[in-house]
Amino acid sequence: MKVNQFSPWVGTEEYQAIADCFESNWITEGPKSKEFSAKLLDLIGAKYGVFAPNGTLALYLGLRAMDIGLGDQVIVPDITFIASGTSVHMAGATPVFVEVNRENFQIDLSHADHLVNEKTKAIMPVHIYGTIADMDSVTQFAQKHNLMVIEDAAAALGVHYKGKHAATFGDIGTFSFFADKTITTGEGGFVVTNNQEMHQKLLYLRNQGRVDRGSFIHPEMGYNFRMTDIQAAIGLVQLDKLPRIIARKEEIKQYYLERLGKIEEISFLTPGQGAEWIPFRVAILANNAQAIRDFMKDKGVEPRTLFYPLHKQPCFAYLKETNPQNMKSDNFPNSIYAYENGISLPSFPALTEEQIDYVCSVLEAYYGK
Ligand SMILES: Cc1ncc(COP(=O)(O)O)c(C=O)c1O
Repeated sequence: MKVNQFSPWVGTEEYQAIADCFESNWITEGPKSKEFSAKLLDLIGAKYGVFAPNGTLALYLGLRAMDIGLGDQVIVPDITFIASGTSVHMAGATPVFVEVNRENFQIDLSHADHLVNEKTKAIMPVHIYGTIADMDSVTQFAQKHNLMVIEDAAAALGVHYKGKHAATFGDIGTFSFFADKTITTGEGGFVVTNNQEMHQKLLYLRNQGRVDRGSFIHPEMGYNFRMTDIQAAIGLVQLDKLPRIIARKEEIKQYYLERLGKIEEISFLTPGQGAEWIPFRVAILANNAQAIRDFMKDKGVEPRTLFYPLHKQPCFAYLKETNPQNMKSDNFPNSIYAYENGISLPSFPALTEEQIDYVCSVLEAYYGK
């Protein structure tokens, strides 16, 4: 049997929605985008939102709307997808890496006071693996040091902390609609804020420095970060499917927890208090993770590691020149542990019962059970 790490769950309904765009002859941002944005804001519970071409550029837009640029520093967790760090670089600022906790690999600010200096402008909690950072501690840290907060909620649509939706705690929050995210538009991103001034900046930045289309007078400096109604049409169908997606992911997670929970050599992430967990992927932890991944691959199950620590990323090696202390592996035992012991299991809604059963059988076979 073959089990991919991920396959998107799109079908005839999404196809029909695209056909509708062609019939109405509206393919750039238009009525579907307006409807998709309104429904997303309603779900998330934020006041304002703008689309971006993807989650990476959503982060960039968010940082720019916060006036983060040259000479500024942003605190970013060491375990995250590369875009959390590269978006800071793209804005002209410098990422400073901080350790994650051992239980669920979310940002850990309990020993991070020394990372703050006069250049530090913001913290970027990243809600990874389908759960969410301890936003009480993030908010307290931000208030203590007078920092802004931008939440990378790329994979956290539908995820709440103490009843409040991810991306609504800080100044800005961002989502991704890449093919493997909770809902997808192929590529796509969304930036949310409750701050009217930041919203105004976002509108200018994303639409050539003007608010309305059709005018050639550009009051501000801006670019083109728009999406299309074709993508929004797919997004609307996906949003209708969201309750089914969440329910299916929950079933898959429960199945893995019950069946693989019997293998004592395997452990799972434990979400923090008050944090929901809608698995982006189900991440397991085990010794000899590389050997297990090789075994899975051999048996036709596509494995994946967890993220690679940002302080070790070749593309960030240049930071060793200016901030050697921050780039030392001694600072990041949990982040290194996550990479060395983590295995990401296929957890997408289109997985069949037979495939889930097979993934578990392969892991049981590895341990001779
Ligand atoms: C945590 C995180 N941030 C940002 C991104 C970037 O999103 P995109 O791929 O839409 O640019 C991703 C994508 O995987 C992600 O997982």
